[in-house]
Amino acid sequence: MEPRDRDARVLRLYDQVLEIEQRLIPTGLHVFGKAPGAGQLQALLQIVASFDRFNPDPHAASTESRPAIRALTDLIAEGLGLESYQCLVEASGGEESSAAGRERVESLLGRAIGIFLSGSEEGGAARGARFLLEEARVPVEDSVASFKLLGRIREQLRGNTELDALAAALRGEYIAPGPGADIIQNPEVLPTGRNTHAVNPYLVPSPLAVQRAERVAEALLDRYRRENGRYPETMAMVLWGIDNIKTQGEAVAQALHLLGVKARRDTLNRATSVDVIPLEVLGRPRIDVVMTVSGIFRDLFGSTMNLLDIAVRTVADLDEPEDRNFVRRHVLEQTRQGVEPDDATARVFSNAAGNYGTNVNFMVLDSQWKTGSELGDLFVTRKCFAYGRGREAGEARRMMEACLSRVELTYQNIDSSEIGITDVDHYFEYLGGVSRAVEQRAGSRPAIYLSDSTNPNAKVRSLEETIRLETRTKTLNPKWYEGLLSHGFSGVAEIEHHVTNTFGWSATANAVDKWIYDEVAETFVLDELMLERLKQLNMDSTLSMGGRLLEAAGRGMWAADERVLERLRDAFEDIEDRIEGVAV
Ligand code: BEZ
Ligand code: MG
Repeated sequence: MEPRDRDARVLRLYDQVLEIEQRLIPTGLHVFGKAPGAGQLQALLQIVASFDRFNPDPHAASTESRPAIRALTDLIAEGLGLESYQCLVEASGGEESSAAGRERVESLLGRAIGIFLSGSEEGGAARGARFLLEEARVPVEDSVASFKLLGRIREQLRGNTELDALAAALRGEYIAPGPGADIIQNPEVLPTGRNTHAVNPYLVPSPLAVQRAERVAEALLDRYRRENGRYPETMAMVLWGIDNIKTQGEAVAQALHLLGVKARRDTLNRATSVDVIPLEVLGRPRIDVVMTVSGIFRDLFGSTMNLLDIAVRTVADLDEPEDRNFVRRHVLEQTRQGVEPDDATARVFSNAAGNYGTNVNFMVLDSQWKTGSELGDLFVTRKCFAYGRGREAGEARRMMEACLSRVELTYQNIDSSEIGITDVDHYFEYLGGVSRAVEQRAGSRPAIYLSDSTNPNAKVRSLEETIRLETRTKTLNPKWYEGLLSHGFSGVAEIEHHVTNTFGWSATANAVDKWIYDEVAETFVLDELMLERLKQLNMDSTLSMGGRLLEAAGRGMWAADERVLERLRDAFEDIEDRIEGVAV
């Protein structure tokens, strides 16, 4: 190997190791009423300080305004006379000087937070700001606002009134309201123990959400184009309610931007129609976006469902070349075949009124399926109700299937560092479910991506990359599983859920590497000491985990070595016997 190639490989590896190291993961479950330990504070504050903070009013009119608090990472890079932190991160996998610059910025940030946290609390902000002035020439007036925010977070995390608030709620007393989000997205969620409020759907998407969404949407298309040499004509996107509350509509803004429009506000400041971004400004074709929407989103964001439908119809009506407007191309193809325009423009799909979920997760958890196509069919059966102006949420199976048969890319945004795609079964039921439905109807598996808007650089990853990252940082990470095991019974259940949710990605998208199952088996079942600990804490979940691994092998999703399988079967039968009281 040429030294240059070797160096490039080492840099790419360095980049990947860094990504794993810097991933913020929850270590253990939240105990209601208990404040988090000091150990995680440094990492949390470091991430919080890596984001620009805008006016705390999420609906302030202008997107142009400068952030009220600037990311310390940017200030440090600027002070050192380096490229922007974002440029350093983007180039660090390919250039040694960028990797070194990035490391310098991050190390200074880590030290600054350490100095901020050490010693007296009142002097923390001044100490941190002075350190960055001396070490990185960051003007004190620029950094001190950030340190003050960190000081407030530190103070608010120390107290925890959740139990008092619960007791007050049970007495029918008033509970102060607070926004719902995670701390990194919006530090205003603190203190916890308040009555979480949502958003006014007419104010979604907020200017900040629009600004962030454009970067992510373009990064998604860049990634697809890098791998396929062209833009996708049609993509399917999952929209959830809680996520759009937390981000004030980031995913909604992404969908609009992919279509090449912006929400327009009426005289009451409500987003009720759209402005078209001219093709010259957009600089790319308009993507045809099929939206599969959760029942919660449908209930919370009725006006947004209409907005999305209006956006599609507006784009379909534009007098533009079909190779620059894929919505128009597909609608015309359909209407030429005699499909009614109303049907040909249906893109917003959800459950029948009053129904929720895809049930794909239940089918997988209960092992009640033979072929993947049953999972895709179930997804469509549950989700084929079209919404939008003039539609009465009617069943529209044929329309949805026509849309899915064109999809080349499926996608969902992740907006929280707390819940990832193997933490809960909902990601695989939705993104996995729609991908499986597409695979059958389009005749090939779509490219499946997730974006990570918890990352200041709005990273886009393939499904496989995301599963690997979650496995490395959570399921197989001793910090993560030991944190859970300290909770005893429910900790083991949580580990089992991760294994089962990982299996869900095999079932729906065939996206799990062999090494993942190998190492899960090695870590939790074939390691006798660990197996004994798990059994002591929670026999049933341990049995389920073993059963799930055997199911993965039995269904041909995991090409396990025969010796490994034998040991797994022995362990499984032994636990089963113990549960049944045959052995002790
Ligand atoms: C939602 O917020 O829309 C949602 C939450 C949990 C599971 C699925 C969807
Ligand atoms: Mg038996």
